[in-house]
Amino acid sequence: MTDTESAALAVEDLSLVIDGAQILRDVTLGVATGELVAVIGPNGAGKTSLLNVVSGTMRPTQGRVALHGRDVTTASPARRARRGLGRTFQTSYLFLGLTVLENVRLAAQAKGQRFGGLWRAPGRSAAALAPIREHLARVGLDGARNRPAGSLSHGDRRKLELAIMLASGSTIVLLDEPMAGVNSEDLPSLMELIRDVQRDTDATVVMVEHHIDVVLELAHRVAVMHHGALLAFDTPENVVADATVRDAYLGEPL
Ligand SMILES: Nc1ncnc2c1ncn2[C@@H]1O[C@H](COP(=O)(O)OP(=O)(O)O)[C@@H](O)[C@H]1O
Ligand SMILES: [Mg+2]
Repeated sequence: MTDTESAALAVEDLSLVIDGAQILRDVTLGVATGELVAVIGPNGAGKTSLLNVVSGTMRPTQGRVALHGRDVTTASPARRARRGLGRTFQTSYLFLGLTVLENVRLAAQAKGQRFGGLWRAPGRSAAALAPIREHLARVGLDGARNRPAGSLSHGDRRKLELAIMLASGSTIVLLDEPMAGVNSEDLPSLMELIRDVQRDTDATVVMVEHHIDVVLELAHRVAVMHHGALLAFDTPENVVADATVRDAYLGEPL
């Protein structure tokens, strides 16, 4: 188990109670730099809530969250983003009326503002657009750069979200069901892309995903959630062999 002190992302004794309902209970886990962790578990297990508490859109009732060893439990989502945290949502948050290129340019611009104000923001000159087009090429969308984001397939929207995270300089990336709504024929290329981007950038990735084949193929370790608690946190092979995990799914296929 990763030492939570040295982890890229660490949560300790995390609990979340909303209106008397225990949404998260005593979740402790550490994710190492460059590690890809998949979070699985039945509907309502608390996977999205865990991401919410990590990204700061929800405050835990108890426990702490640390990014690269710094406590961010009470930090705003914006401050966590400045510490390198990026996130996608179960539903896409792209600017659908803007072009693919503009969506990435906005992310790069927000990063520029972090470090030096608007005057540093990337402009529209060819030189300023070069790194943005590189991010787009990285995810295979440079050819689509002038199309409205709303005209992209679900799979391509997910790729665009990855380009946005590259442009915003995220080092820890939370992906909530990145394969949701994606056609089965687009799954392999999206999966490969997530793996390649993660390897090339050494980003730390925490991915909620219920396609078990994707999880087995991509994840270094798998966190299994059940009724708000962490049931198992181990290699994919050990997790699928775990009887407790199988029972938690009540016979449903993992
Ligand atoms: N803002 C909220 N207020 C009240 N209950 C919530 C809220 N967010 C999530 N829940 C409840 O917490 C439980 C876990 O939800 P969620 O984290 O979305 O699960 P998962 O992503 O694993 O499907 C569910 O029972 C859900 O209804
Ligand atoms: Mg969810």
